[in-house]
Amino acid sequence: MADVEVLHDADVLIDGNRIAWVGPRSEVPKAGAQHAAPLQVVEVNGVIFPGFIDCHTHGVFGAPRLDDHERRALGVDYKAIAAAGGGILQSVRDVRSRSESDLEALTRARLRMLIAHGATTIEVKSGYGLELEAELKQLRVIRRLSEELPVTLVPTFLGAHEVPPEYRGKRDAYVRLVAEEMIPAVAKETLARCCDVFCEPGVFSTGETRQILSAAARHGLAIKLHADELEGSGGAELAAELGALSADHLAAISERGIQALAASPTVAVLLPATMIFLGKRGQAPARQLIDAGAAVALATDYNPGTSPTMSLPLVMALGVSQLGLRHAEAVTAVTINAAAALGLAQDRGQIAQGHVADLVVAAVDDWREVAYWMGREVVSAVWTAGSACPAL
Ligand code: NIG
Ligand code: FE
Repeated sequence: MADVEVLHDADVLIDGNRIAWVGPRSEVPKAGAQHAAPLQVVEVNGVIFPGFIDCHTHGVFGAPRLDDHERRALGVDYKAIAAAGGGILQSVRDVRSRSESDLEALTRARLRMLIAHGATTIEVKSGYGLELEAELKQLRVIRRLSEELPVTLVPTFLGAHEVPPEYRGKRDAYVRLVAEEMIPAVAKETLARCCDVFCEPGVFSTGETRQILSAAARHGLAIKLHADELEGSGGAELAAELGALSADHLAAISERGIQALAASPTVAVLLPATMIFLGKRGQAPARQLIDAGAAVALATDYNPGTSPTMSLPLVMALGVSQLGLRHAEAVTAVTINAAAALGLAQDRGQIAQGHVADLVVAAVDDWREVAYWMGREVVSAVWTAGSACPAL
């Protein structure tokens, strides 16, 4: 992960929506006859990175949860707030009551801010509906915005984010509803590429998670898990066993979980802004994961309850200062490893011939500054699929 190649005085040639060549300016090939179209030349001052990939967001929601924020400041814990009717269920009431067009307008504005901070591929989860129609409403918002915004959105169905109030005391019935009705409906309309479960003591057990994700796999969805976020329960081991694309959070991962991820292609997605925003002192054992051989990615976890940040560069800086990543590892974590966490590493996350021409320019002198200036807007330009994104 620390092995990034840094070129000085480099050229990147783009043909259509793909990268045709990258290398030292002194070696740039002359445009051949097959490139008869007029060549457009753009001089860049700063550092060009592969477009950043935000592989974990809950981007479709209504209002920010300001009361939860203050209650936590006064010493009430995330799980206690949730048990008292705040937390995820507050956002669920909010999303259920809003129109699709209202949610779409809110989400559009928020995704544009993620893009302005350099995200060119963004995973977006549902999970604030917890009933079929409200989950589909969120996924339709993601689909429409993926047709409109100049980025790649990866939709993830998270119907198992929490047990909704109407299923209190009959959680088995909710698990069956998710596995047997919601997943087939989502898959039938191809509204999601992945399925995620909040696998956590007090939310969904590993047994329930297995039941839901097995159904998802049968319906052709890729698998992701919120695993071992606050308390360990073997979520990382389950992710590796099920062949998940990623296991996310992992602040309470066990030694066995670390070994399981290291021995598997499942990416460990770490979300340092979440633990900071929750006021927790602990962070996932990133160094142990990397040293054991696991692939680590970083993401914002952008959501109204635990991580209202829209900046991957801020998360990279937290990756260095809170998780002990090297600057190069932080870059790898939001590019090629984040692409792998979405099953897109074959042509995203690198400035390499044949890859999609998603590029981010940072107005800095030294590339390491992208993971250094905490909260400064370092991204000065964004290109997706070979075209400059209009000012966002
Ligand atoms: O990733 N852990 C569960 N889901 C989100 C929080 C969602 C919320 O609190 O609204 C997370 O932290
Ligand atoms: Fe999350």
